[in-house]
Amino acid sequence: MSAPAAHRVIAIDGPAASGKSSVARELAQRLGFVYVNSGAMYRAMTWHVLERGVATDDSDAIEQLAERAVIDCQLRGHHSLMLIDGINPEPFLREDRVNDNVSRVSSVPRLREILVDHLRRYASENDLVMEGRDIGSVVFPETPYKFYIDASPDIRASRRAAQGQHDRIAARDQADSSRRASPLIIAEDAQVIDSSHLTIDGVVGEIIGRLKLKGLTSAS
Ligand code: CDP
Repeated sequence: MSAPAAHRVIAIDGPAASGKSSVARELAQRLGFVYVNSGAMYRAMTWHVLERGVATDDSDAIEQLAERAVIDCQLRGHHSLMLIDGINPEPFLREDRVNDNVSRVSSVPRLREILVDHLRRYASENDLVMEGRDIGSVVFPETPYKFYIDASPDIRASRRAAQGQHDRIAARDQADSSRRASPLIIAEDAQVIDSSHLTIDGVVGEIIGRLKLKGLTSAS
């Protein structure tokens, strides 16, 4: 069990292309909280694995690479940024090869442990909105502010296609939900919001309303 976070954490989980990134970013800005995109960190590690020529089905080699990597988690303004061995991989995180391999690389338990340690550290100094797959269930299970953003598979597929990306989201969802280490689940105490027919502003407004009911309004 993790130690309780020193600051407030709003956990936003959900499947691929559910709209959680746009929602989490906007919510963080409105509340004055720091925005942390955990998926970007799993993508960054996947890019690193591919760049180093490590086979994405070789979990031992991935584990060793993750142990050796110099991971530097920072903030740029109010957004998280992760450097690996001094490089900022942000421009490469949406490459097709990263989309195709990120679920497999993310299933390596030791790699997850390493990233979860970094994710938790963000909460020692900042109020956070953190998005991902296991934020409410594993990374910050003790936070009272948990949301699960969903949308129908068709709508999610069309949103991703509209972004011009080759991304087999159904395959990723299947892999993310069925893996042994920290699968994508709806945490028992998470509030589920279906974004299928809502705008980003609509979802953010809904979350802010529910947070107010729990007494959370803005940065302290
Ligand atoms: O494309 P989308 O924004 O939906 O996904 P993402 O948040 O960028 O995450 C990419 C992949 O990283 C997911 O499909 C998961 O395999 C992995 N991931 C994870 O395992 N745990 C997290 N907390 C966040 C992402």
